[in-house]
Amino acid sequence: MTKEELCTAAMAMLDRAYCPYSHFPVGAALECSDGSVFTGCNIENAGYSPTICAERVAVGKAVSEGHRDFVRIAVAGRSEDFCVPCGVCRQVLQEFAPDIEIICLNRAGESRTFALKELLPYGFDNTWLPK
Ligand code: THU
Repeated sequence: MTKEELCTAAMAMLDRAYCPYSHFPVGAALECSDGSVFTGCNIENAGYSPTICAERVAVGKAVSEGHRDFVRIAVAGRSEDFCVPCGVCRQVLQEFAPDIEIICLNRAGESRTFALKELLPYGFDNTWLPK
């Protein structure tokens, strides 16, 4: 899939977002090394804290289908600024793909790409755990 196709897949998910509380839709499209793509949207909850971000929905769909080798993720929002992943999503991405590339989109469809390592320096991983 081209970068444009991945971004289009993420933007298409904006219409599936369930965000009656924040009114801030987010769409994600996660690409695996074998070329498969898993999409996600944010799913909010009246209890607020059970809300799950678009990126983690995509990761959950991929991992539960046997895919863990992630290469790129596109994250789409409808704000003027680029939609960057929250801290929890950065940590979840690091668990499986510390070298993943993150394409952040704004409402105009313009993008800015980051390495996860730029967005999450010194992230926690299993090398910090006792042996
Ligand atoms: N959200 C995401 O889905 N991904 C992000 O990267 C940032 C935040 C969601 C969570 C919540 O439903 C709404 O956006 C506002 O925070």
